Amino acid sequence: MTTLQRTVGAEVTRVEGREKVTGTALYAYEYPVPDALYAWAVQSTVPRGRVRAVDAAAALALPGVIAVLDSHHVFRLRPTDAPELAVLQSPEIAYRGQIVAAVVADTFETARQAAAEVRIEYEVDDHDAELKDGDPRIFVPDTVNGGYPGRTETGDVEAALAAAPVVLDVTYTTPPEHTAPMEPHATIAVWDGDSLTLYNGDQGPWMTATRVAELFGLPEGAVRIVADHTGGGFGSKAIPRPPTVLAALAARAVGRPVKVAATRQQMFTMVSYRTPTLQRIRLGAERDGRLTAIWHDALQQSSTLSPYCEQTVTPTRVMYAARHRRTTHRLAQLDVPTPSWMRAPGEAPGMFALESAMDELAVELGIDPIDLRVANEPSVEPETGRPFSSRNLVACLREGAARFGWAGRDPAPGRRREGRWLVGTGVAAGNYPALTSPSTATARAEPGGGFTVRIAAADIGTGARTALTQVAADELGVEIDRVTLDIGRSAYGQAPWAGGSMGLSSWGWAVSKACRALAKRLEEVSGAIPPGGLEERADTAEDVEARREFSRYAYGAQFAKVRVDAVTGQVRVDRLLGMFAAGRIINPRTAGSQLRGGMSMGLSMALYENLETDPRFGDFANHDLATYHIASHADVPDVQAHWLDEDDDELNPMGSKGVGELGIVGTAAAVANAVYHATGVRVRDLPITLERVR
Ligand code: MOS
Repeated sequence: MTTLQRTVGAEVTRVEGREKVTGTALYAYEYPVPDALYAWAVQSTVPRGRVRAVDAAAALALPGVIAVLDSHHVFRLRPTDAPELAVLQSPEIAYRGQIVAAVVADTFETARQAAAEVRIEYEVDDHDAELKDGDPRIFVPDTVNGGYPGRTETGDVEAALAAAPVVLDVTYTTPPEHTAPMEPHATIAVWDGDSLTLYNGDQGPWMTATRVAELFGLPEGAVRIVADHTGGGFGSKAIPRPPTVLAALAARAVGRPVKVAATRQQMFTMVSYRTPTLQRIRLGAERDGRLTAIWHDALQQSSTLSPYCEQTVTPTRVMYAARHRRTTHRLAQLDVPTPSWMRAPGEAPGMFALESAMDELAVELGIDPIDLRVANEPSVEPETGRPFSSRNLVACLREGAARFGWAGRDPAPGRRREGRWLVGTGVAAGNYPALTSPSTATARAEPGGGFTVRIAAADIGTGARTALTQVAADELGVEIDRVTLDIGRSAYGQAPWAGGSMGLSSWGWAVSKACRALAKRLEEVSGAIPPGGLEERADTAEDVEARREFSRYAYGAQFAKVRVDAVTGQVRVDRLLGMFAAGRIINPRTAGSQLRGGMSMGLSMALYENLETDPRFGDFANHDLATYHIASHADVPDVQAHWLDEDDDELNPMGSKGVGELGIVGTAAAVANAVYHATGVRVRDLPITLERVR
C-alpha cells in the first residue's frame, strides 16, 4: 500500500489530547448518571476465618444510609474461575482486605462514615502469609498464566551442570509490587431490567462485559461496558476486580444506580499486585562463554482462592541457546490477596534474574557482557525449534552499545569515582512476546464525508486511539482528521484487552481489514455514499488462526549509568538508554512514550517499589503512595528509547509487535548490573536499597 507510509509512522499527537488536558474527557466515575447512590466496601480486618455476625444498626441509623449489605443480602453469582470476584457470596474470608460488607448511602462521605460504624464479628482461623521455600504446600502447576507449561525440560541439565567448566548458581528475589494506576478503580453500575451498564475504568471492555455477564448468569450483550478513557491500568484493569462487581451487586440490591470508587488505600488490597518471586538460576558454561546448561526455577505465591501463577521463567525459554535446560514454576497458595498481572507479568521479574545472572557469568569468565549474549544467540527458539519471525537482539545490543558509548568500558568494578560518587554502567537484554488475538471492527463512511470506526479497544493512556486512527486513515487513503475512532464500548464486539502488549496489533488488524473492505466498497460505488452511509464489519479470527507457526517476540537491550554514594549507598540512575526491535512503529511519539514509561517503571522496580508483607496480618504494611515508593520525575533524569527498523511480514498487516511491556523488561537488571560495576556489590534482591549496597 503506498498510502501506508503517510500517517503510519508519523508523530501524530494524541487525538484526544485536548479533551484530556482541558478536563472534558470523562473517566468512569465522572459520567452524569442521575439518581445514583454511593457504595463503600467494608473490608475484612482478619486474614482468614469467617464473618459470624454483622451489626449494621449504628450504620443504618445515620441519615442518608440506604442499606448495609453482607453475604445474606446480595444476588447469588454464578460459580467463577476467578473466585476473588465472588464478592459477598459467602461469609468465608480468604485474605485480609476482602470485602465482607458494604454500605450504600446518598453521598460518598455518608457511605464512608457509615462503613466505619459497621461492626463485624469474626471467627478467626490460623493463617500463613509467608512465602518460604521448603513449604510442603508448594507445587508445580501444569500451566501458568498465558497458557504456558509450568515446567519444561530438554536434555540432561544436572549432568551438564556437573560437567560444565564454569557454573553459576545464584538466587534472586523480587518483592510484591503494586500497579498504582493514576486513576483508582471506579465503576458506576446502572441496571435496566436484566441489562447492566457499567461505566468502568477498563483495559478490556468486551472481555469485562463477557465476564460480568457470566457472573450474573446473563446472556452475552446484556452487560455493556463504557470506558471512553481509562487512567492507566498496568494489568490491574485487565479483568474486573471486586469493586466493579460490588457496584453491580449493590445497584441490583437497592434498585438504583450505584457508584463505587476505590480509595488509594483500598487499591493496595482490592485490585491485585505482582507476586513476589524467589528465583534460583543455574548456568553451566564453557570457558569461551557458550552456555551448556540453563536451569531457572521461580517460586511464587497466590491466594488460597486461585492458583494464579505468573509466567516468570518463560523468557528464559526463548533468550539463549544451550543444549541442556530446565525451567520450573513453583507456587504456594497462602492466606494473602490474589496476585495478578502487572506490566510484563513474569517477564519483568524473570528477566531481572536471568540478566543479572548473565552479568555475573560475564564477570566470572572475564568476557564482555554483550559478547557473552551474542555468543549464545540461538538460530531458532531454543526449546521449541520454532523459527523466529524476526529477532534483532544482537543488533539492539550492538546499536545500543554504539549509542550509549559502551566501547572501551573497563569491566573492573568499583574503580570510577566522581567526588563522593562511585560510577558504573550496566547492560541487560529483554524480550516480550508479540501476541495477537481475534478482534472485530466496523468502518463506516458517513454521508458528510467523514469516517467512523468502531472497535471495543481501550486507550489506557497508551495512545492506542491515535495509532488506530492512523491505521484507519491510511487504509482509507484519507487525512486523519476525517476519521473518528470510537473505542471503549463492549457493544462494538469482540476485542482483546489493552494487555499483553497485544492491543494495537490485534485491534489494528481488524481496523485495517474493515477499512480496506470499506475502501473497496467506496471504489465500487465510485465514492457515492448513500444517505444512510456505508458500513463494513471485519473479524480477524480466521486471519489470526491462519498465521504460520513462528516464534514471535520483540527484543530490546537496555543500558544504564548509575552513581552510588560511597558513604550512604544511595543509588541514582543518571542515564537509561534502550534500543528496541518491535516491528513497525506506528506512532513514534506514543510508542516512544510507552517505552520510556516502561523503562522508568523498570527503574522504579530496581530502586524503590516494594510492598512490605506483614505476615502477622497477611497483607501489606504500606498502602499509600507515601509509603509505597515509585520513581518520580527527579529520579528519572535521562531516559532515551530508540528502535531499529524491523520488517516482519509474519505478524499482522501493520507489521507491529507491541511496545507496552517491552520497556520494563531488563531495566532492573541493567541498573543492578551498573550498581555492581560501580561498587563491586552484587545486589540480588530488589529493590536496591541503601543497606543492600553498603
Ligand atoms: Mo499488561 S500486565 O498485560 O496489562
